[in-house]
Amino acid sequence: MTDAVAARAPDASSSLPRFLRGIGVRQVRIACGLVLFSYLVSHFADHALGNVSYAAMEAWLRYHLAWWRSPLGTALLYTAAIVHFSLGLWALYQRRHFRYLTAEIAQLLLGLSIPLWLDIHLVGVRLPGTLFGQDRYYAQAFAAYWIARPYVEYVQFGLLTVAWTHACIGLHFWLRLKRAYVAAAPFLRATVVLLPVLALLGLIQGGREVVKLAADPQWRAENLRPPLLPTPDQRAVLDAIIFYVPFGYGALIAAVLAARGVRALRERRHGVITLSYPDRKVQVPKGLTVLEASLRHRIPHASVCGGRARCSTCRIRVAGDPDELPSPSRREAFVLDRVGVGKDAAIRLACQLRPAADLALVPLMPPNIDAASVRARVRPHIGEERYIVSVFVDMRGSTKLAEEQLPFDTVFLVNQFLRAVATAVLEAGGQPNQFLGDGLLALFGLDADPATACRQAVLAAAGIAANVADLNRHQAEHARKPVRFGIGIHGGEVIIGDIGFRNHVVFTAMGDPVNVAARLQDMTKALDCAVVMSEEVREKAGIAADALAGTTISIRGRDEPMLIRTVADPTVLPGLLGAQLAAVGTMSPDPSSATPARGSG
Ligand code: FES
Repeated sequence: MTDAVAARAPDASSSLPRFLRGIGVRQVRIACGLVLFSYLVSHFADHALGNVSYAAMEAWLRYHLAWWRSPLGTALLYTAAIVHFSLGLWALYQRRHFRYLTAEIAQLLLGLSIPLWLDIHLVGVRLPGTLFGQDRYYAQAFAAYWIARPYVEYVQFGLLTVAWTHACIGLHFWLRLKRAYVAAAPFLRATVVLLPVLALLGLIQGGREVVKLAADPQWRAENLRPPLLPTPDQRAVLDAIIFYVPFGYGALIAAVLAARGVRALRERRHGVITLSYPDRKVQVPKGLTVLEASLRHRIPHASVCGGRARCSTCRIRVAGDPDELPSPSRREAFVLDRVGVGKDAAIRLACQLRPAADLALVPLMPPNIDAASVRARVRPHIGEERYIVSVFVDMRGSTKLAEEQLPFDTVFLVNQFLRAVATAVLEAGGQPNQFLGDGLLALFGLDADPATACRQAVLAAAGIAANVADLNRHQAEHARKPVRFGIGIHGGEVIIGDIGFRNHVVFTAMGDPVNVAARLQDMTKALDCAVVMSEEVREKAGIAADALAGTTISIRGRDEPMLIRTVADPTVLPGLLGAQLAAVGTMSPDPSSATPARGSG
């Protein structure tokens, strides 16, 4: 086992170590963000009570503070705030490109601006408690924002809006890959809009009420006197802090940007590497992730989670020796394991891999894959060799039919025929794979062993014959000619995978056995039978050699003659399977789901 593979070997122990293995920097940032979000929800709910009364706001504030100003609540809140903020700055330093989505840009800018909006509120309301032992409640805050310095109320509205929008964008990016998100979206949307609006209205109502109350000398004496309000000297200290905070914060941001510049210079000095994509080569400085390189050179590359190591859609296959690459991080290994490719050291996440040398790679997912696909856990087939039984079914005489009937009647009949075929295929456990005009290619063995696949294909042939017989009874009632058909069956190792371009990607099977099945179907007419199956399929299905007529034929493109079996009446086939019949599993007989089988990851 290589080192890279060893690092990615699945953890066989309990789910706790597995859970811990999945924790990366972003998961810590999300967890801290959730703590801050819960604080916002509680605080905004309190503001919203202003729509009831100022007294209701003050009453709920006691409960809000009982937790958030307790030693544990305070530690949790400030730790979450510091870690979330620090990791945000780290992300700003780390990220090599700024080709963000509009929502990401908004989240970044809003997040960076929060300390500036928060300055007055934090210093004016929280710091007096720490510095001067003065706890502030709504009365003092409203008096400061609505009476002493009325412009500050608009800063508070800005703070509320900015913090909430930043949080909701972050939540959206986190939740959109989760299956329950779609169902919960209407409720969440309503909450996202209603809570801040109610909070703003509550603040306005509460503020107005306090302005009226402040006209009462007794109320003022009870609520707006030292030590409930700062002395002039204390006020001067707080104002100085408020004034200097933006400078300190600006210096911090400048330091991060300067660090980015220094890193860029160093990377340039360390030279560039060449990344070879299937259709082009690009040169990038060392230190970029493969995804950053793709984005920098506008190479379409799937990245549903935006490079956050969550979706796995950016995954690539690298050529050459995987051991020469930097080892995957714990988080990268966890995500690759989760989608079932953890043991393949050549598959990596483009958003996590920072190659230090030239690299050839192939992106494995269509660049247009979206969050819905990730939520549905649709796993595109990236190419696999597998024993598959291919069944070609073709409607005979459809060209002549089209000449004799109206176009509508022809299309109707062909659809009825394809429905009869697809239903039988699904009932037998196969997958209708491609509709080819008036014919169909069905695949067996995507989820079954070769013997079962062969038996399923044989059963499907019988089912098709029975279903078409039903169709023909209906045809006879309308004095129409019966539908006839031919079936070719052959099995073997083929390549299965998604092929196509952009939105036009289909799952299919390729290889000689598929071509042979098509040729066998062609031969049904010349051999005057309904089914031609290869000897291989007969054997694996467990049908006795003397049960079916055999003949040797030449297949175009093959040197060796081939022994095949012909069946005039496919409805006898289940009887020939005998005891093997019980071993054949079936699938949902839903003729509408004529799509390729896809695994879930
Ligand atoms: S972009 Fe989502 S895991 Fe890489």
